[in-house]
Amino acid sequence: MHEEIISKYNSLRDKSLSIDITRGKPDTFQLDLSNKLLDMQVQPIDEDGIDIRNYGEPYGIKAARELGASLLNAEFENIITGEQSSLLLSYQTVLANYLFATPTPWKNINSPKFICPVPGFDRHFRMFDDFGIEVISVPLNSDGIDIEAMKSVLETHDNILGIICVPRHSNPSGEVYSDVNIRELFNIGKNYSTSFLFLFDHAYLIHDFLPTIKQTPTWQIAIESDVSNQTVVVTSFSKVTFGGGGLSFMAAAGENLKLVKRMRGSMVICPDKVNQQRHVDFFKDIKSIENHMVKHADLIRPKFEIAYSVLERLSDQFGAFSRPTGGYFITYTTKKPIATEVIALCSDIGVMITPAGATFPKGIDPNNNVIRIAPTFIDEEELQVAMEAFITALQVAHFNLTV
Ligand SMILES: Cc1ncc(COP(=O)(O)O)c(C=O)c1O
Repeated sequence: MHEEIISKYNSLRDKSLSIDITRGKPDTFQLDLSNKLLDMQVQPIDEDGIDIRNYGEPYGIKAARELGASLLNAEFENIITGEQSSLLLSYQTVLANYLFATPTPWKNINSPKFICPVPGFDRHFRMFDDFGIEVISVPLNSDGIDIEAMKSVLETHDNILGIICVPRHSNPSGEVYSDVNIRELFNIGKNYSTSFLFLFDHAYLIHDFLPTIKQTPTWQIAIESDVSNQTVVVTSFSKVTFGGGGLSFMAAAGENLKLVKRMRGSMVICPDKVNQQRHVDFFKDIKSIENHMVKHADLIRPKFEIAYSVLERLSDQFGAFSRPTGGYFITYTTKKPIATEVIALCSDIGVMITPAGATFPKGIDPNNNVIRIAPTFIDEEELQVAMEAFITALQVAHFNLTV
């Protein structure tokens, strides 16, 4: 059996592959779904008489904010529609609090900390690193944050400023938080501190490709839990229309909203209103966004099915994999601490996978066993080969074979 694995690995090496499954990106066919945006005519004056070609409307044009209000289930007054990146809105939220939070800007707080569920999104860790804010990790359960672990973190640490979560199809392990989980999260956070910030990165809010549990909109739960002044929810069209060419949305209230508006006022005079109008014209309403997302789902689902069908061929002696119902990633957890080796073996035969540890703070996976697979960008044929390479490399590393 070992001979067979070695020979399979070497035959894959002979193919001189060059396949990249490092990042969760839409493929060309997905991007083509929004091609109409490329040559849409936009009227220069919007329905409220605003000249969208000029400066003004720092929080976004009315129609784009209304779209955000229906997406995030918040009141119009609570919405900012920004430019193309929700990560930028998250960053601006942290920066605004760092510089101007009342009564104490975060920059004046000793050993500030933020909770991040792990595995998580590398850019979240990097953002907190930028501010010298220590990331404290908590594990995820299938229904969201491990509440007991979070309670214990809060009991044992001072100066925890908040938590960042991806509550639907979490990057990379695909968890979808239950309403109960989010309510508990709100309760323990607000009991810890009335300035504890709940930052929800809803990057995959509308990105189901298989039936997924319904969630009460996060903003609504925040209102019901009386924490809307401590909550920020962001999302974007980066994986709806064009990566880096869509729109971003934020729901916030009270001091947070004021701070972010102030921060943005220093950095951006106004967002790209022409692109906002283009998107508003492209998506007349939520229903048309939903229809559009069904088309994305139909293109993405077969890719995940290919990945599952290959991963299923390995017994659980090697590890286990997540089966998300949306989002862009599969997480493979190896039984042995060999993630680094598997990824290096893949790289040696031309299959690039997200570096081991990238889904943990400081890039260090304490168990060296979490591997993120991003199956969407490449075509189905390449994906089949990449997955074959992955399971072969996994077996080589598991049995510590010489190749
Ligand atoms: C959890 C998460 N947040 C944010 C982003 C980036 O979103 P945007 O393009 O809106 O900045 C991604 C993209 O990979 C993501 O996975």
